[in-house]
Amino acid sequence: MENNLPVNIREYQELAKKALPKMHYDYINGGAEDEHTLRDNIAAYGRILLRPRVLVDVSNIDMSINLLGYDMPSPIIVAPTGSHKLANPEGEVATARAAASCNTLMVLSFSASCKIEEVASSCNAIRFYQLYVFKNRDVSATLVRRAESHGFKAIVLTVDTPMLGRREADIRNKMVAPANANLEGLMPIDDLDTARISHLQTGGSKLEKYARDTLDPSLSWKDVEWLKSITSLPILLKGIVTAEDARKAVEAGAAGIIVSNHGARQLDYAPATISALEEVVKAVVGAVPVLVDGGVRRGTDLLKALALGARAVMVGRPVLYGLAARGQAGAKHVIEMLNRELELAMALCGCRSVAEITRDRVQTEGDRF
Ligand code: FNR
Repeated sequence: MENNLPVNIREYQELAKKALPKMHYDYINGGAEDEHTLRDNIAAYGRILLRPRVLVDVSNIDMSINLLGYDMPSPIIVAPTGSHKLANPEGEVATARAAASCNTLMVLSFSASCKIEEVASSCNAIRFYQLYVFKNRDVSATLVRRAESHGFKAIVLTVDTPMLGRREADIRNKMVAPANANLEGLMPIDDLDTARISHLQTGGSKLEKYARDTLDPSLSWKDVEWLKSITSLPILLKGIVTAEDARKAVEAGAAGIIVSNHGARQLDYAPATISALEEVVKAVVGAVPVLVDGGVRRGTDLLKALALGARAVMVGRPVLYGLAARGQAGAKHVIEMLNRELELAMALCGCRSVAEITRDRVQTEGDRF
């Protein structure tokens, strides 16, 4: 087996597809409605070319960055994705161990299938906690306090999910998701049970009903103020793809912005995130760090995102593919592989540090050099 390890993310995806029940693979892999944005998140990277510089001494490559005061060995971050037990019985604990062994920051999903406390004790690397705001603010406040007291260093507030996107594969498969491990004791049992059953039909789906009953569609900018009032942790807003909202996020006191379309699982025909990144970066004029996720499958993708102004880059599905294919070792290998690919891409582009990955290293469709 060790001799036949996958050599890229695509191969991990194929292994994951073989390893998982179709329903679970589709849940992880799928996107909203026509999946236009799902395809474009990846295709848009293919439309950006690299402009390598040569005859640079690249014998030492430094991939380190600083994010919110934390030094990190590389700009790769594990994105928050729900229900890791669908991919592997050890769930988020295995992912957290894999991330920690690479010194990689992990963002734990609100919809995790392992408890905040278990993950905290499995992971001595920096961790952030991702939050959805519930109609019952006490539930959200309790989760924030738990994350804070267990050493999570920032709250990632996902702002692109006032309602659940329509993922048709899940409807077709009558997808059943595992319970959210962190709501036990916080919600009535009936509500918890409905959380396990997803997407039967629009209007009739138990998860959609659950989402309607719990997630707050009235969430607005004033709630960012509320969140700031209940925690001293920095708050990053995840799910912004326009300059207008980026400026509002800075005004609202966000400590960072994550350009994301939720891995194309929410609004189909939202822009590919790599296409939206530069607009957001220009709008915030350096006031806060801008991160991006969606469609990153190669070290060259990472380099392109950094060149277009991302401070760090999150990866979602690739880590789940690794976890599904080979458990903790697979998740670790995926992170290592992306790190090695980024290192090579930097060397071949003549960039010795992340600071040297400047805008002129990429050519987008609009550029004239
Ligand atoms: C997600 N994503 C997500 N985001 C979030 O804020 N909270 C969550 O609970 C989840 N859950 C989730 C589950 C699964 C199976 C996937 C694939 C994605 C979105 C995630 O954080 C990230 O934005 C995307 O995964 C990035 O795109 P790639 O890297 O998967 O292409």
